[in-house]
Amino acid sequence: MRKHGNSFLVLALALTAVLVDCNSEGDILHAQKLVWEDPNNILKSWDPTLVNPCTWYHVTCNNDNSVIRLDLGEAGLSGPILPQLGNLTNLEYLELYGNNINGTVPEELGQLSKLISMELQQNLLTGPIPSSIGNLKSLKFLRLNANMLTGEIPIEILNLIRSGNMSVMNISDNYLDGTIRRSEQTGFSITTVIMDQKTFR
Ligand SMILES: *[C@@H]1O[C@H](CO)[C@@H](O)[C@H](O)[C@H]1NC(C)=O
Ligand SMILES: *[C@@H]1O[C@H](CO)[C@@H](O)[C@H](O)[C@H]1NC(C)=O
Ligand SMILES: *[C@@H]1O[C@H](CO)[C@@H](O)[C@H](O)[C@H]1NC(C)=O
Ligand SMILES: *[C@@H]1O[C@H](CO)[C@@H](O)[C@H](O)[C@H]1NC(C)=O
Repeated sequence: MRKHGNSFLVLALALTAVLVDCNSEGDILHAQKLVWEDPNNILKSWDPTLVNPCTWYHVTCNNDNSVIRLDLGEAGLSGPILPQLGNLTNLEYLELYGNNINGTVPEELGQLSKLISMELQQNLLTGPIPSSIGNLKSLKFLRLNANMLTGEIPIEILNLIRSGNMSVMNISDNYLDGTIRRSEQTGFSITTVIMDQKTFR
């Protein structure tokens, strides 16, 4: 009897762990919602009590109910990008352009190994461009233009142009330093790198 009781307890704990794990992506997005100011109430449907975030507006999931898109361009949002977004392991599209998002670009975004598009342009982002973005071999579109980013453009990111899938990289209209060695050869200006895969072949 006692033995059975313990087994049930173990089963119940295991189930709880599975359920919590199921909604971890919802928890991440809900945490992000809590730190954003959302004057247009665009995140109204982001109800953390639902089993997953797949029915929330501006969120798209794959068939396994894992988040693959976040579409929040020109949504009137302000506040920071949480580092936890780097734990949305299947994310392919991070579309946050045209808001008033401030703070830094979290280096944890460099964990998003399936990311195809990172569009953070036209916000109020400060600080450096994290070199971890250079891990994103699947990245095709990197738009960070029209922010207040500082520092040099990490060589790891420039290397994506040669060795990754990069198709469009726009980093113009920031406060970046330095020169892009390779772009000098091809005539691109210092802070505008709009290029396609053919450019450096
Ligand atoms: C991401 O998930 C891992 C494993 O669950 C955890 O250790 C880490 O703290 C998380 N990172 C963030 C930024 O939340
Ligand atoms: C971001 O903006 C909010 C309100 O506009 C402000 O309170 C906060 O200090 C800003 N954060 C940074 C890192 O600039
Ligand atoms: C690069 O893009 C191609 C075509 O879209 C895709 O098949 C390939 O998996 C991508 N590479 C990476 C590392 O994601
Ligand atoms: C690159 O960014 C600049 C500054 O925001 C913008 O004016 C320009 O249209 C962008 N170019 C492309 C091709 O996206």
